[in-house]
Amino acid sequence: MLAKIKQLLQEVENLTASNAEELEALRIKYLSKKGIINALMADFRNVPAEQKKEVGMKLNELKNHAQERINTLKEAFECQDNSATELDLTRTAYPIELGTRHPLSIVRNEIINIFNRLGFTIADGPEVEDDWHVFSSMNFPEDHPARDMQDTFFIESHPDIILRTHTSSVQSRVMEVSKPPIRVICPGRVYRNEAISYRAHCFFHQVEGLYIDKNVSFTDLKQVLLQFAQEMFGPETKIRLRPSYFPFTEPSAEMDISCDICGGEGCPFCKYTGWVEILGCGMVDPAVLEANGIDSKVYTGYAFGMGVERIANLKYKVKDLRMFSENDTRFLEEFEAAN
Ligand code: PHE
Repeated sequence: MLAKIKQLLQEVENLTASNAEELEALRIKYLSKKGIINALMADFRNVPAEQKKEVGMKLNELKNHAQERINTLKEAFECQDNSATELDLTRTAYPIELGTRHPLSIVRNEIINIFNRLGFTIADGPEVEDDWHVFSSMNFPEDHPARDMQDTFFIESHPDIILRTHTSSVQSRVMEVSKPPIRVICPGRVYRNEAISYRAHCFFHQVEGLYIDKNVSFTDLKQVLLQFAQEMFGPETKIRLRPSYFPFTEPSAEMDISCDICGGEGCPFCKYTGWVEILGCGMVDPAVLEANGIDSKVYTGYAFGMGVERIANLKYKVKDLRMFSENDTRFLEEFEAAN
């Protein structure tokens, strides 16, 4: 019996099969119920007691060996089979999917380009900010109800550290390190603790602008904003400034543009007013200049701030601003041509 097992071990070692059927035949020959190895197992009870241990071990070895060998052959076939069916050298190559620029990036770049041409440079700052740069230096006194205008994310263990609610914090950082004339725009992401809906999100993007020099006046502000509106929405665009309130500007205004869907006639988009709001602006409050180390007796300035999503909504008529952060490629691909 031992000799037989030894011979079979040798045989199994050298098994080959050139196709799946041959392999199956081998499996049946050696490993099936009626196969050679099972027959040996059945014979095992006739082995003399003193040999049982050795023969038993050898028999197990043979069985494992046969199983392994057949598995190895099977794996080899599977690899071959795949390559045989999948490798079609005449097939044209898969097209390389090119990414598209995100609509918010397209609009942000457009805003930046317009202001670049008007002499504004870009300033950047952190999204995780301190209370000073977001609020106090912007003339939001502590415990002042104006802080409720922008629902803020706080960090529990560090009440002074917050997620910036507007990029005015960058304006503050620019003012504290530079001397006028200052002419910057601050693009960036901002965060507000708002329930997510089609018209609000807990984060969005802004571009804010700041111009400080001697004799900067409200007319300068109006002219720059008119220029911007007409470059962004077309030369026919009209603007309208309505008095408003911001802690950091005085006087303050909100700017509307003529509705470019109905041309000012009135439609559901502009709620039949003929106008849609696009940004906030005003003359920098002297208290803000002083808090940031700029002499308010010598210098004046204007500031404005707009939401990139809002502008993109108007430009592309996207009704639900959640679309901008869902990464649905069907939506994103629509902006391919606008790159
Ligand atoms: N910081 C204001 C906001 O986020 C926008 C703004 C900027 C308004 C500058 C006026 C002047 O709502």
